[in-house]
Amino acid sequence: MRTIIKGNIIHAPQLGELSIIPGGCLVLEDGAIAAVCDAMPPARPGDQIEDYGDCLLLQSFADLHLHAPQFPLLGMGMDLPLLEWLDTYTFPMEAYFADTGYARRAYRRLAGTLLSLGTTRVCMFSSVHREATLVLMEELEQAGVAGYVGKVDMDRNCPDALRETDGIASTRRWLADCAGRFSHIRPILTPRFTPACSDGLLQDLGALAAETGLPVQSHLSENPAEVAWVRELHPDCEQYWESYAKYGLWNGRTAMAHCVYSDRRERQAMGDAGVLAVHCPDSNTSLSSGIAPVRRMLEEGVKVALGSDIAGGAELAMNRVAAGAIRASKLLALSDPDHPAFLTVLEAYYLATTAGHQFFGAGAGFAVGDKLHAIVVDDSALPPVPRPLTLPERLERALYLMGPSDIRAVYSEGRKVSA
Ligand code: GUN
Ligand code: FE
Repeated sequence: MRTIIKGNIIHAPQLGELSIIPGGCLVLEDGAIAAVCDAMPPARPGDQIEDYGDCLLLQSFADLHLHAPQFPLLGMGMDLPLLEWLDTYTFPMEAYFADTGYARRAYRRLAGTLLSLGTTRVCMFSSVHREATLVLMEELEQAGVAGYVGKVDMDRNCPDALRETDGIASTRRWLADCAGRFSHIRPILTPRFTPACSDGLLQDLGALAAETGLPVQSHLSENPAEVAWVRELHPDCEQYWESYAKYGLWNGRTAMAHCVYSDRRERQAMGDAGVLAVHCPDSNTSLSSGIAPVRRMLEEGVKVALGSDIAGGAELAMNRVAAGAIRASKLLALSDPDHPAFLTVLEAYYLATTAGHQFFGAGAGFAVGDKLHAIVVDDSALPPVPRPLTLPERLERALYLMGPSDIRAVYSEGRKVSA
């Protein structure tokens, strides 16, 4: 069956380049994009037409780094830097997710909230709890959110309630439990970060990554005290990234959150291996971590996408995270005369959409053959303007201002998941 979705199409096939089709049509066959047209194709019997008039038809957002069990902490406890914040607020909150009943309630709300904000793909940390992680995967799948979920591995420098003592046995059991059970949610290996993982645990996870071919996510060079700690723990490593690389946790299927203190050498290692840097501007400000050199990374050919990093970040809406990335890049350009120009709206839109979706194997922009991930934005309730706006102006306003009430429909994996 064909579905034809009509609206003002704005997508970002390349960094800094928009493709705009006023009154365009997306033709779907079984949820996959069959054509992107500038006019209605000749009708076929059985066509289902969804005409959104003057609305914007945008790519949905991909949030490449967030912590599901920190959802209840959103908007709280940002008066401490990373390591103290973890001990004081984060670990105690994550411990509640031993209760799978509570986990289900919290995760059902999280899944619905993500879709209401136009986020349809996630690369997400759960907690160390195997059962609550399965609950999280079930709730995302049922709501229609796609992507990767990782059961966290950690076995040191954390409270006893969260410290794993069985190596990767519970991770293996989790992988066995989720095999064949989900269509749109897949597992990702998730060492929390080097300070919370013994050498033996990192080694076992590297072996598991090689054995299964699974992707890997973790944290890298977020905060100066953290970077110094890793240097103490791994005196044989010149830089933080090498503590992952030496165990086989550093390749083209790896996503590393933050990279605020990644210097040229560390960025070169990311570029060479094809590691994705996940920029989390709201978290980096809220936890007083710093500002990641995103423009430099892009110029050097490092892959970059965006993450909310809730609840280090207090903003789950990726359009606002994208606007935050622009603001952060301006502050960096202001404070460092050597730093190149700030990010543009077009670049931020690309980073929040195509750059993230590609980590899951998607093509560029609305690519033919991909399952549709899109949002329909009705911007008519935003502040009234005295003249017609161009489509790029309307995109800019949507990124800075829109909220759930401006999002009229969401498509994930080719299906309409909310209206
Ligand atoms: N590093 C290790 N764990 C965390 C976490 O939960 N949030 C952030 N922002 N950084 C981390
Ligand atoms: Fe994080």
